Amino acid sequence: MKLCVFQGTFNPIHNTHLKMAQSVAADYDKVLFIPAYNPPHKDFDGDMSAHRLEMVRIAVEGNPKFEASDIEYRREGKSYTYDTIRELYKLYPVEGKIGFIIGSDAFEKIDSWHEAEKLKELVDFIVFERTDDVSSTEIRERITKGFSVDDVLPKGVLQYIREHNLYIEGITDKLAAMLNDKRYLHSCGTAEYARKLARKFGLDEEKAYIAGLLHDCAKGFDNEKLAETAKNLEVSEEEFLNLKTLHAPVGAHIAEKEFNITDKEILRAIRRHTLGHTEMSVFDKIIFLADKIEPSTRPEEFRIAAEKLLEQEDGLDKALLECYRRTIEKLTERGLSISPGTIEIYNLLNKEYS
Ligand SMILES: [Fe+2]
Ligand SMILES: [Fe+2]
Repeated sequence: MKLCVFQGTFNPIHNTHLKMAQSVAADYDKVLFIPAYNPPHKDFDGDMSAHRLEMVRIAVEGNPKFEASDIEYRREGKSYTYDTIRELYKLYPVEGKIGFIIGSDAFEKIDSWHEAEKLKELVDFIVFERTDDVSSTEIRERITKGFSVDDVLPKGVLQYIREHNLYIEGITDKLAAMLNDKRYLHSCGTAEYARKLARKFGLDEEKAYIAGLLHDCAKGFDNEKLAETAKNLEVSEEEFLNLKTLHAPVGAHIAEKEFNITDKEILRAIRRHTLGHTEMSVFDKIIFLADKIEPSTRPEEFRIAAEKLLEQEDGLDKALLECYRRTIEKLTERGLSISPGTIEIYNLLNKEYS
């Protein structure tokens, strides 16, 4: 059997990896994808190792020549390529030398590898130039910033990353430290629900998730800190009068400065999630609504009502109108003041949809 090996961290595996393997597949009977269980020069993360293997399995599914191998997982300990290759010769009836796919950057450092000289004897290196294509590092960064990764990942891998919320620990850890437990729970609930709505309305799910996650990032600030931070921002008098609403503009500012979010739509949706706006985009509306009806901390009754409306034509606007109606009702009941902006938006929607 002519065997080719593609070993890597695959964190995550992406379309370029698959394209590289595909380009040499004709010369081999099998291309074995071997995620490194515990790469010699990297910190070990057991959970992430398991995810990496699973993503490789998903990515190669359906290609008869491709196979995912857990050989390094079964061996445990540091994953040295030399050991892996020797084992493969025992496991497979290999014809000739094993082909070994490697990037030019890694190939340049090959002499620092464990038993490099012996390894060179055992394999034929197939060296790929580093291309302009996106790297795994860039993909992880894109996910953290809420940028789309649909075009660079196999569908199943993307779905797996979403399901397991991979690569956003940097955000969630930081956020958890800034918010109390209930607010953190609410933020995660809003993120999940925003993602669901984004799918429903054909918008970018990553972006919606990050916006939902961060919409209340300044909610843990006390009034003094809110007012202090807002001083340097463009904030209306109306927002300043009610300190409760200040966490929206301040939150957008914190998302940009401390969470390095650069996407304008995300920042704007955070900015608009309390009072809303007369010219909200579909994305703004999704975040606004997810915040009010997410299942972790919001009452079920309103969610059910809103979901019914969402099924109708112009459902998003109708659900929004219902949101405003209830807010105004609640504020009136409690004898609290209603901001003119809220009334303006309510009237606009009401004129259109009731
Ligand atoms: Fe909020
Ligand atoms: Fe919220």
